[in-house]
Amino acid sequence: MATRITNIEEYKAAYKTSLETPEQFWDEIAGEFVWKKKYDKVLEWNFLEPDVKWFINGKLNITENCLDRHLATKGNQNAIIWEPNETGHQARTITYKELHEQVCIFANALKKLGAKKGDRICIYMPMVPELAIAVLACARIGAIHNVVFGGFSYKSLADRIQDADCTIVITADGAYRGAKDIPLKAVVDEALETCPSIEKVIVLKRTNIEYNTVQGRDILWEDAIKDCSSDCAAEVMDSEDMLFILYTSGSTGKPKGVVHTTGGYMVYADYSFRNVFQYDDGEIYWCTADVGWITGHTYLIYGPLLAGATTLMFEGIPTYPDAGRFWNIIDKHKVNIFYTAPTAIRSLEAMGLDFVKPYKLDSLRVLGSVGEPINKEAWEWYHLNIGKEKCPIVDTWWQTETGGILISPLAGITKTKPSFATLPLPGIRPVLVDEAGKILEGNNVEGRLCIEFPWPSMIRTTYGNHERCRQNYFDTFKNLYFTGDGCKRDEDGYYRITGRVDDVIKVSGHLLGTAEIENAINEHPDIVESAVVGFPHDIKGWGIYAFVICENERKDEHNLKLEILATVSKYMGSIAKPDKIQIVKGLPKTRSGKIMRRILRKIAENDLANLGDTSTLLDPAVVEDIKAGAIH
Ligand code: WT7
Repeated sequence: MATRITNIEEYKAAYKTSLETPEQFWDEIAGEFVWKKKYDKVLEWNFLEPDVKWFINGKLNITENCLDRHLATKGNQNAIIWEPNETGHQARTITYKELHEQVCIFANALKKLGAKKGDRICIYMPMVPELAIAVLACARIGAIHNVVFGGFSYKSLADRIQDADCTIVITADGAYRGAKDIPLKAVVDEALETCPSIEKVIVLKRTNIEYNTVQGRDILWEDAIKDCSSDCAAEVMDSEDMLFILYTSGSTGKPKGVVHTTGGYMVYADYSFRNVFQYDDGEIYWCTADVGWITGHTYLIYGPLLAGATTLMFEGIPTYPDAGRFWNIIDKHKVNIFYTAPTAIRSLEAMGLDFVKPYKLDSLRVLGSVGEPINKEAWEWYHLNIGKEKCPIVDTWWQTETGGILISPLAGITKTKPSFATLPLPGIRPVLVDEAGKILEGNNVEGRLCIEFPWPSMIRTTYGNHERCRQNYFDTFKNLYFTGDGCKRDEDGYYRITGRVDDVIKVSGHLLGTAEIENAINEHPDIVESAVVGFPHDIKGWGIYAFVICENERKDEHNLKLEILATVSKYMGSIAKPDKIQIVKGLPKTRSGKIMRRILRKIAENDLANLGDTSTLLDPAVVEDIKAGAIH
């Protein structure tokens, strides 16, 4: 396709054009899609309200571009290859023709249950093909999907359903994840006790675990699709109609519902997928992310399907039945492009090369990394032992809010440097600013990463609360989108993300708000107050360190800690469980009552020599106390 860059000179030329004439640049790319009605104008924007619109008055349906458009040329090509949790079970393949049919059937089932354009539908499912079918069926009828990661607790699920005011939940009886058997439907039932907006629950049978059925509300997937036709006209969507909501953590309050719209998201998902991974027709592409995260949305479902690729979906986990599972799957399905997270790489590296050696891995052509900074050691291990020094690594930087990859090498085109996300994609204008918001010109600078010009797949609002979107991303630095990340630009103009500068922690690549974890801990009846900070962790990138104040002195500290872990699992999910819990008498607070996290971070990092000035604290003595009991 015309808009796939094939060498570094073309990259430079495309980048230059995208700066000089952004509207023409994106107009040419958008022209490759099926529009029911062409847009009148490419872009209108301001970062003050903010108000960003792409492909104005264009009418389309993203599923026609993911599915119908490929039927003539790729109808019998696999769209999805599905690898189940158990090695002994059969993999499934679904061609574009079959996927189109199944999406249409399920879309008709949703309609029959009363779903219509604009409704919000919550999807809480295991990693099975029906998850992709559910997502696409929502898009087919113009319903807004709200996928919630299957590892979140009933409370997190309920929060997300309530905030988006969903009317339907699509779920499964249970989920297999490694040796675990997770009762999803039971979690849904518990969540729905506080979600009166839900009218219907569609349940896919996966593990055959028993569950309760609520008459009139719950319906089996197989019953829902009975007699539904495989003809379903795609709903006409405006470019700026909402496609989905996806919740992400912030430094304060509850998670926010990041809103992505139809036209711009589609254009950028496809463009970034084809260019970053340099996907060639016929290749097998595998992204290991769960669809519950943005990576699964953009680079497991939408991007690859828009590009007519074969996308592999894996139900299980990297260490089941053993730490060779990823490599086994790569050989089994002859995967050409493999996209995973640094945490997975580090944990598999720690298990030793014996799990890698049995596999050839000779189908691999491109490797990817996403979600957190990849340290040099992990990068090199990945390059040597998995890529056999012949596969370029694309270290892709982006966010739930950006919708797609913004800074990354283009595979085999951009010269890579370990731990650098390298250069922005065409159309992306990163700037680094100091704390006062002054733009740092030139190279060899370090500051806060912002983007100064809109791109098609950027966040439009936070669901139900536009002001929160403005404050969070557009208020810190005037006329800039602020990412929350620190970043360096080196002598070659390459970008290196140094990590978050706000109160969120990246734990195994998952973004968690410290305030959210504290709220969960505080649900324990004996805990009066808590403060959570991150500390560097060899495998997870960052670990969670919780300082807690207990109301009544508890003799059984060990049990108290176990109860706190259980409380966090219940209110958030097990990914948010603290690695370390220290019971303290007080927290370091300023006279105005603000917790000085800087000090707690230093203690958690065991950097006691650099605590900084503690004289402004209300009670400097608490610091000595905390230091004495610190866990290292
Ligand atoms: C945050 C966004 C990107 C989709 C999945 C995560 C961190 C992401 C990288 C990278 C260094 C990275 C940033 C970013 N991050 N990719 N290649 N190098 N850091 O989406 O959960 O919204 O998290 O992940 O801190 O702000 P997310």
